[in-house]
Amino acid sequence: MATALFETPASAIDVLRLPAARITVRAIEPADAALLQGHVRGLTRASRQNRFLGGINELTAAELDRITHHGAGNIFGLFAETDVRGETLVVGEAIYAVEAATGISEFALSVADAWHGRGVGQALITSVECRAARAGSLILAGETLRSNDAMLALAAKSGFVTRRHPDEARLWRLEKVIGAFQGMTPCSRLDSMRWSMAA
Ligand SMILES: CC(C)(COP(=O)(O)OP(=O)(O)OC[C@H]1O[C@@H](n2cnc3c(N)ncnc32)[C@H](O)[C@@H]1OP(=O)(O)O)[C@@H](O)C(=O)NCCC(=O)NCCS
Repeated sequence: MATALFETPASAIDVLRLPAARITVRAIEPADAALLQGHVRGLTRASRQNRFLGGINELTAAELDRITHHGAGNIFGLFAETDVRGETLVVGEAIYAVEAATGISEFALSVADAWHGRGVGQALITSVECRAARAGSLILAGETLRSNDAMLALAAKSGFVTRRHPDEARLWRLEKVIGAFQGMTPCSRLDSMRWSMAA
């Protein structure tokens, strides 16, 4: 197992080029608690249900604390943001938890409903995959409701294998081996999305 190499908030910034926008993926920090809660509250009921695998309206104080302390407990929170007419908007979030003992990182994400279908989800997964691999993980894994067609399609497009969940019939388990494969590193796809002034 590779030695875990955890990122700091300052090292956690990716600027990515999507077909219709430039987004920044950055660490969620303690000062972002209200922004994160606002993003969660702003999701439709269906999106919140898909993201949290059940009916919640908002995050608890403990969950906010857990997600906004990037790297604490090996849990990393990320925002995807974009600028619209001079204003910075949160358009998505992702979390991943690095389990050094097993080599598995678990992830979950959500994209603001108005931004669905614009590549933000794919960009967040690509960023998480690279970060988890850098932290020494060999597998990136997640869980989704079986009814979540959008996540299942995104996972399939991103190279995840879908399996029955061992404990819960309403869920699928998503898994992807993120070690180097056929000359590609886990960060190759992210590198190809990076913004450059020349692009
Ligand atoms: C699932 C989710 C993250 C997808 O994010 P997104 O930004 O809309 O997805 P993208 O635009 O990056 O889509 C990438 C690919 O995923 C697939 N996809 C995404 N949404 C889809 C949909 N509604 N139907 C079918 N395929 C879909 C497509 O293959 C798409 O590629 P394409 O645009 O070239 O066809 C988003 O729908 C969401 O936030 N849902 C609520 C929360 C949730 O379900 N979280 C998952 C729990 S872990």
